[in-house]
Amino acid sequence: MSAQPLIRSHDVTRRFGAVEALGPLSLHGARGEFVSIVGPSGCGKSTMLEIVGGLQRPDSGSVFVAGVPLEGPRDETAIVFQDSATLPWRTVLDNVAFSLEARGVARDERRDIARRGLETVGLAAFAAHYPAQLSGGMRQRVALARALVTEPDLILADEPFGALDEQTRLLMSDELLAVVDRLGCGVLFITHSIQEAVLLSDRILVMSARPGRIVDEITVPLERPRTSEVLSSTAAAECVSRIWALIRREAQVAMQGAS
Ligand SMILES: Nc1ncnc2c1ncn2[C@@H]1O[C@H](COP(=O)(O)OP(=O)(O)OP(=O)(O)O)[C@@H](O)[C@H]1O
Ligand SMILES: [Mg+2]
Repeated sequence: MSAQPLIRSHDVTRRFGAVEALGPLSLHGARGEFVSIVGPSGCGKSTMLEIVGGLQRPDSGSVFVAGVPLEGPRDETAIVFQDSATLPWRTVLDNVAFSLEARGVARDERRDIARRGLETVGLAAFAAHYPAQLSGGMRQRVALARALVTEPDLILADEPFGALDEQTRLLMSDELLAVVDRLGCGVLFITHSIQEAVLLSDRILVMSARPGRIVDEITVPLERPRTSEVLSSTAAAECVSRIWALIRREAQVAMQGAS
């Protein structure tokens, strides 16, 4: 893994009216590094991800991506949202090809690439279907394929597997690990599942209750390459319970603050 910084944010804050949503929050991520963020609901995870994606500006603090101050969305960053929308009037194949169209890839080439992307997420047989003919989890896999086919150097993913059942979640995690390995890209990944964070990540950042700050950082002591089978190891189980202890404390604070 190279040590070249891909993301570096320093003392980022964000407020919405009277609500202090975030920070000050500092984080970093390297090329080839998989970093997950866990933390209680409403602590500012999605807000932070959108800031690193250039979709929102922080009120204060700085964000650098690939050594450049972030001014807005970058072509090389792929984002998968918490509730990623598909385009209902386009077929599944053309939904995946859409992100390549925006980047000026020729029609036949983008359809070839999109077909391979659909194979990666197990939806090759549904290329000609429309999103309304798919389940919610299948639509989320279309959104994931759409992000991966652009060969990004940075993937920002906000609960991309949240709508999937347990088995599909594990299979998609294995696919994502393989794709990230191949691309050598950096990943910032939000999840509510501690097991998923442990399976996928090199490092896990634990956020506090709102306004979200990083309160702990855990390096995951599992060898790569990994598949979902590592979750049955003792080292993985210990890591899960350690993070759960940290999160439980923050979740209690968040619940008390909300009542
Ligand atoms: N556009 C907005 N306008 C007003 N308030 C907002 C907006 N976006 C987020 N917030 C507020 O900022 C805080 C953080 O929201 P955010 O969506 O980042 O949390 P989260 O950690 O992603 O939560 P979850 O785990 O439930 O997805 C919340 O209190 C939310 O109500
Ligand atoms: Mg969120």
